[in-house]
Amino acid sequence: SETKKIAVIAGDGIGPEVVAEAIKVMKKTEELFGYKFEFEHGLFGGIAIDEKGTPLPQETLDICQKADAVLLGAVGGPKWDNNSKELRPETGLLGIRKALGLFSNIRPAVVFDCLKDASTLKPEVLEGTDLIVVRELTGGIYFGEKFRREGAQGEEAVDTCVYNVTEIERIVRQAFEVAQKRSKRLASVDKANVLETSRLWRETVNRIAPEYSDVEVEHVLVDNCAMQLLRRPSSFDVIVTENMFGDILSDEAAMLTGSIGMLSSASLGEGSFGLYEPVHGSAPDIAGQGIANPIATILSVALMFRLTFGYEDAATAIETAVKNVLDAGHRTGDIAVDKSKAIGTGAMGDLIVAALRN
Ligand code: NAD
Ligand code: IPM
Ligand code: MN
Repeated sequence: SETKKIAVIAGDGIGPEVVAEAIKVMKKTEELFGYKFEFEHGLFGGIAIDEKGTPLPQETLDICQKADAVLLGAVGGPKWDNNSKELRPETGLLGIRKALGLFSNIRPAVVFDCLKDASTLKPEVLEGTDLIVVRELTGGIYFGEKFRREGAQGEEAVDTCVYNVTEIERIVRQAFEVAQKRSKRLASVDKANVLETSRLWRETVNRIAPEYSDVEVEHVLVDNCAMQLLRRPSSFDVIVTENMFGDILSDEAAMLTGSIGMLSSASLGEGSFGLYEPVHGSAPDIAGQGIANPIATILSVALMFRLTFGYEDAATAIETAVKNVLDAGHRTGDIAVDKSKAIGTGAMGDLIVAALRN
């Protein structure tokens, strides 16, 4: 088959550590399935600020735009936390999502049976949990005008939240399509009792819902959703929501799976091109120790294979390998019940590579 070009932007902290394991997995699938990948590495985030004076250098964006897919590690860290907005790693992350038109962020939270003990929730509550958060990724309060001003009672800060109907409609349609391929239930999460953007969101969902009449839609207020996710997680299937709500709810959903180190994501636009990254950040508290869980990044590769390349065989093989390694009892520290038996990032990656079967 043709060679696929993958842009690799590993970033900061544990980013390079987990990305290295994902690359091992991709190389093994070349051997097993005959696929061919070409990796091009780009500087991104804090390391790009240090070396190039900007979190998203033009040459990195060029590498991504010429690629078939992007694999991203994570960015950020205390070193850059007091920088101005333009010189923050996170600004590079928002910039790349916007520049590549990736308005749809798919974040699956699947509870592996053998990890029910790893969660802080009771195993019987987690039983059967398998949900997807579809997060709007290039609008809302993240991208609205931001400024400081002098007010009557001192300095003021302003963040504006803006959504137009086109932005809402395209993400909601994607979520309906995801729901149609699953259990045909969609929970649209908003704060329509308070926010005008949420009222437009809800109106838009209701207007296009008849076009997807096989899907049952439920509107859930975001505060209630945060609560219900812990009370009855298995009753959710597809959740669609705006940018910031999706950010927060997906980290919450991560704890259903046992750890944020388990949560993968795909960021998509209108076509098949996609950016794939773990949901977690650069984890400065454990960076450089070789103990981060690489599974979120490895499962993001499975999403890349399925959603961008259509390599369903290799995608399923990766997910099965992860399941088999976990079933055999191997754990990184974040998902280990007995922390003294935890293995490192490289060992976990090697075990998954060894478990891969055609
Ligand atoms: P974080 O996700 O980096 O870490 C939160 C906690 O989870 C930490 O205790 C960390 O050790 C743990 N953790 C995260 N990933 C793990 C893994 N793979 N294995 C084991 N444990 C893991 O969130 P944070 O601490 O709030 O943010 C740290 C930095 O990362 C900040 O600069 C933030 O802006 C940035 N961030 C970046 C991204 C991204 O690049 N997509 C996402 C979130 C946060
Ligand atoms: C994520 C992160 C980012 C976000 C930050 C680092 C800008 O938390 O990918 O979830 O809020 O989108
Ligand atoms: Mn987040």
